[in-house]
Amino acid sequence: CLSEMKDKFGRPLHDLRISVTDRCNFRCRYCMPKEMFGNDFSFMKREQLLSFEEIERVVKIFVPLGIRKIRLTGGEPLLRKGLPVLIDKLVSIHGLEDVALTTNASLLERMAPRLKEAGLHRVNVSLDAINDDVFMTINDAAYKTEMILRGIDKAKEVGLGVKVNMVVKKGMNDHQVIPMATYFKKRGITLRFIEFMDVGTANGWNFRQVMTKKELYDELLKHFALEAVNPAYVGEVAKRYRYVGTNTEVGFITSVSESFCSTCTRARVAADGKLYTCLFASNGLDLKSILRSNSGDEAVRAAIVSTWQNRTDRYSDERTEESAKNKTKIEMSYIGG
Ligand code: GTP
Ligand code: 5AD
Ligand code: SF4
Ligand code: SF4
Repeated sequence: CLSEMKDKFGRPLHDLRISVTDRCNFRCRYCMPKEMFGNDFSFMKREQLLSFEEIERVVKIFVPLGIRKIRLTGGEPLLRKGLPVLIDKLVSIHGLEDVALTTNASLLERMAPRLKEAGLHRVNVSLDAINDDVFMTINDAAYKTEMILRGIDKAKEVGLGVKVNMVVKKGMNDHQVIPMATYFKKRGITLRFIEFMDVGTANGWNFRQVMTKKELYDELLKHFALEAVNPAYVGEVAKRYRYVGTNTEVGFITSVSESFCSTCTRARVAADGKLYTCLFASNGLDLKSILRSNSGDEAVRAAIVSTWQNRTDRYSDERTEESAKNKTKIEMSYIGG
């Protein structure tokens, strides 16, 4: 049975992250620094991107192989024109249980009603600070927190599930951990702290800048009482806790200090239609060429199956400061996180 398809380490395929654009209106220093993604940077042309029809076709091929969950990413996915049209197509595919979006929320206040109407289930909002000056220094594009917070409120108001992701980097926003936790606890919104990862080569990563789960947890315990929450399913990325006496959760994504490759069931399709089986991959399978050749769905399926069955990725399990420096890696804004 194809839904039992496993990779070389026995891991099934359950989640597909699809990047719909390599563009973003932010220039977060740890992701798309201006020096690298300036006015002369050449982003993908429209014809290089998978069309909505192509994405729909790919997803329909993926679902019988085990995919239950789709996450749309970018760059900033809400910059892709007509995105609700794609969401509408995806949510009606039989067998999908979860269709979500990861966004910087700068356009969320305006888009939330249309996203909900199209059938989107939930959004994860990236927000690294609650203080305007800190936030503006990080996004490097003059966006204020107010706009993001209004986007979050609107998404909740229209009935979308909302979680917030905060990448914590020492010296950048570690002093924002408690203010962020306080703000979102009060509103009953799950906040997840993400260890700063060595994705791509643009962000000058090193271990010293990583605020680990243990450091974050110890800091939180000075202000709040927490109790552990059991994982909802095997391979859940975040380690979850609850503020004692509430229904509000807080989570940690520990790709650096406690990697989770052994249960990694994720594949990624970049905006140009390349399939990657790891966030830290250097090479992908050119699905777009197969889709645009005359071969039918069976050829696409066979290429996906053979790629997954040969998969041996476990980058974060093996990471050292050396490998982080020396490996050729693709950028976060291209692969979508
Ligand atoms: P939920 O379905 O809501 O749990 O979302 P998610 O955590 O799967 O996705 P999201 O886009 O919110 O990602 C949060 C952080 O986890 C980002 O920094 C991702 O890059 C990181 N992340 C997600 N999947 C993986 C993975 O397979 N490996 C690594 N190393 N990081 C991942
Ligand atoms: N380390 C950890 N998370 C990152 N993100 C972007 N770059 C990094 C990095 N180097 C986050 C974004 C978003 C998610 C998809 O990935 O902030 O929340
Ligand atoms: Fe920042 Fe996300 Fe845009 Fe990267 S893709 S620059 S992390 S908002
Ligand atoms: Fe999966 Fe690669 Fe992340 Fe490990 S490093 S959890 S294999 S995406």
